[in-house]
Amino acid sequence: MNSDEIRNRFLNFFEKRGHKILPSASLIPSDPTVLFTTAGMQQFKPYYLGEGDAMRDFGTLNTATVQKCMRTSDIDEVGDESHLTFFEMLGNFSFGGYGKREAIFYAHEFITKELGLEISYVTVFEGWDDIPKDEESKQIWQSLGVQDIREEGILDVFWGPTGDGGPCGPTTEIYCKNVAEHDIEIWNIVFNQFYFPGTREELLSGTSEKELKPLAQMGVDTGMGLERLEMIVQKVPTIFDTSSFKKFAFLSTAGSEKIKRRGRIIADHLRTSAFLIADGVRPSNKEAGYVLRRLIRRSLVQAKILPLSLDSLETILRNIIGEYGEFYNELKNQEKIIIDEFTSEAEKFYSSLEKGLKEFDKICPEISNGFYQVGKVISGEEIFNLHQTYGLTIDIAKDLSKERGCKVDEEGFWTAFKKHQRISRAGAEQKFKGGLADQSEGAIKLHTAHHLLLAALQKILGKEIKQKGSNITSERLRIDFSFDRKLTDEEKDIVEDQVNEWISAGLDVVRKEMKREKAEKIGAEMEFGAKYPEMVSVYLIEDRAGNIISKEFCGGPHVSKTSELGKFKIKKEEAVSAGVRRIKGVLE
Ligand code: ALA
Repeated sequence: MNSDEIRNRFLNFFEKRGHKILPSASLIPSDPTVLFTTAGMQQFKPYYLGEGDAMRDFGTLNTATVQKCMRTSDIDEVGDESHLTFFEMLGNFSFGGYGKREAIFYAHEFITKELGLEISYVTVFEGWDDIPKDEESKQIWQSLGVQDIREEGILDVFWGPTGDGGPCGPTTEIYCKNVAEHDIEIWNIVFNQFYFPGTREELLSGTSEKELKPLAQMGVDTGMGLERLEMIVQKVPTIFDTSSFKKFAFLSTAGSEKIKRRGRIIADHLRTSAFLIADGVRPSNKEAGYVLRRLIRRSLVQAKILPLSLDSLETILRNIIGEYGEFYNELKNQEKIIIDEFTSEAEKFYSSLEKGLKEFDKICPEISNGFYQVGKVISGEEIFNLHQTYGLTIDIAKDLSKERGCKVDEEGFWTAFKKHQRISRAGAEQKFKGGLADQSEGAIKLHTAHHLLLAALQKILGKEIKQKGSNITSERLRIDFSFDRKLTDEEKDIVEDQVNEWISAGLDVVRKEMKREKAEKIGAEMEFGAKYPEMVSVYLIEDRAGNIISKEFCGGPHVSKTSELGKFKIKKEEAVSAGVRRIKGVLE
């Protein structure tokens, strides 16, 4: 039974029992308190809370879906036999249509009759604080002849809330044995009996002022991971051996542990990336876009080491789209976009990746053939430098270290990260007022364009030109600079052309951390009146002949190559005050 058949059987089973079959919601939810869709129930939150009318919207109180889900909490574990960032969740839901008895009966029937599996054991909620033990579920399981019923606590068998406030309640789970006789949780059946007005952490802390309130109507919310189910049904040892994964994760089950690990990371991350791009996410330095960027970069590092070419990665992506595109049409319809977005992000990263890996080799060198200094701790500053200069994210540093038996000082990394932000703020207090916080892709590109523009103004109008102020949004840049007259149209054209020439030359944008005195000594641009800390970061851009064309005290972030910018255009040139001019510019 392959995944198509399992999906169909599930949906048909529940359709026959009065459920409306609905499509998966997007991986990017409308609820602003959560970054990704992590469960099937998310699109139904209002119906549990009595804010939505299921009868009106669906013509029934019961629904069923196969939901695309994403959970990043285990991202570091991806590479082992079981963890994934993306998975499909089969779920049936009821908003007052039925209760515990039907929910448990349906699940039991589907598992034992429809799929012919044996239940190893089930769990029920043992009670916590004022929330009583779930005796009712226990009795229902007993009535079905299930012998092994285990009582568990709030951490394991109490679901929700997701995000900041939402429905929650006790769960009962079904475990089956896999081919190696290990018990695997396959189905989580949640009874949304309560509403909690805060986060799960607040609820579990036991000290929150916020109170759990019973919901007017108990809801049912169930979730069964398709990948795990497929593994059990097909009697294979891992998710990567299932017939779905075999179509694109061929390296995950062959070769040494190291190779398998790389293969699994690539398979998982490319699959997730394809689904994210299909749902409109684009690689960026913000939120979901940043997660996508990390996934793509991490898979590229693994591919580079294997080695596996970009073409092979593209083939894997096409196989993924082939495997899932029938059920999720958005993948098939956007095949070109998925491939293009992936390739363009990959190409951007590739040039710095090689240098980054070399730098990593210096930090964590091979002592003799395949042996490294086991236990060596890579400092936070070193990791931060790899991150900032070469785009090697913390996940990548962790992967590489793990393989070499080294450790990363993750806390130190975050300290360095925060320190860097302070540097940015202090160093550019005036400069990026209102614009510094904007780390959107647009703002980052304009930031680099801003450096090129200042350099062009100095080259064409005179070295004595000084920056007097600046503001960058994701749409446009603004620079104020010392100059005592209006620019002629010809001068504006020449400045524009110069910036565009540097852009098309594809120059590296390099960040260096140095003492303030040193930065002053090399003549890095600084804004008059701004206060800079002792250690500063300087962004350097060299032309092809090796001449430094721009050096500026700056916290970043910047693009890594000027070719990423597109075409620069001056939109406006005007006076700000006596001796100070202002240019507004955009990238097209
Ligand atoms: N919402 C429950 C889960 O995701 C079913 O496990």
